[in-house]
Amino acid sequence: MSRFADKTVIITGGGSGIGKACAELFARDGAKVVVADLAEESAMQVVEQIQRMGGDALFLQVDTSLWHSVQQLVADTLDAYGSLDIYINNAGVFDGFAKCMDTTDKVWDQVINVNLKGYFHGCRAALPELIKSGGNIVMTASIAGLGAGGGGTAYTASKFGTVGLIKQIACEYADQGVRVNGVAPGGLHTGMTDMYADDEAVAGFISSRTPLGRWGEPEEVASAIAYLASADAGYVTGSILSVDGGWRAQ
Ligand SMILES: NC(=O)c1ccc[n+]([C@@H]2O[C@H](COP(=O)([O-])OP(=O)(O)OC[C@H]3O[C@@H](n4cnc5c(N)ncnc54)[C@H](O)[C@@H]3O)[C@@H](O)[C@H]2O)c1
Repeated sequence: MSRFADKTVIITGGGSGIGKACAELFARDGAKVVVADLAEESAMQVVEQIQRMGGDALFLQVDTSLWHSVQQLVADTLDAYGSLDIYINNAGVFDGFAKCMDTTDKVWDQVINVNLKGYFHGCRAALPELIKSGGNIVMTASIAGLGAGGGGTAYTASKFGTVGLIKQIACEYADQGVRVNGVAPGGLHTGMTDMYADDEAVAGFISSRTPLGRWGEPEEVASAIAYLASADAGYVTGSILSVDGGWRAQ
């Protein structure tokens, strides 16, 4: 029996990077997958790829920073699939390592509104359905949520906030049967880091800070997210699983 047979999962940021890898993995393991993203073209490509593999997927456009948009995402998912079992809060933006004095209000608001408020919106919209289904939430945090040096000021604040959301909401809803966990990835090859691929200073910094000595791949994070979302993690809640090549072990 497939691990996620009969389960419906919403993956925000499902059109690229970690979200795309999750969408493909959950679909392979039998889930009905909602690829939720602001960007339509890349997300549609993910859906078409899953459908070519024989999987079940649907694109729903969302701006996670807007409450009404996330509410609509959950409502449209219920219309399409009838229930919701797993919500993956993953859509995120980066601050380009901007230090405090270089962080404009615009950058601060964008990063906090997507990375933190967007995750809060996802939890608030999904929880009523997850209580009914006995489901769970997984959030993509970051090494930047566990210490300094993994991003700039706004990004780091947003990811520390994510870690707080995971722990607090896990405790708030454990007695209603909902688990809430997160992953904390290190440096990965995704759309978010494309711009640094040829930047020796950043690429070298990440490799040199990583005990395994290399960047990670989105599929290596997706497999950790799938574990946390699966019945194998039935006694795991409020946890942050580092998937960082050892970065935060130091
Ligand atoms: N790439 C890394 O090195 C790394 C490391 C640690 C954590 N993360 C986190 O992983 C998560 C996924 O990032 P990724 O690396 O796969 O990046 P990515 O840029 O490849 O994918 C992010 C996706 O989110 C979507 N998105 C952005 N704003 C949105 C919004 N307001 N509403 C809906 N969708 C929106 C984008 O369109 C994109 O498809 C993010 O939360 C990021 O902070 C990434």
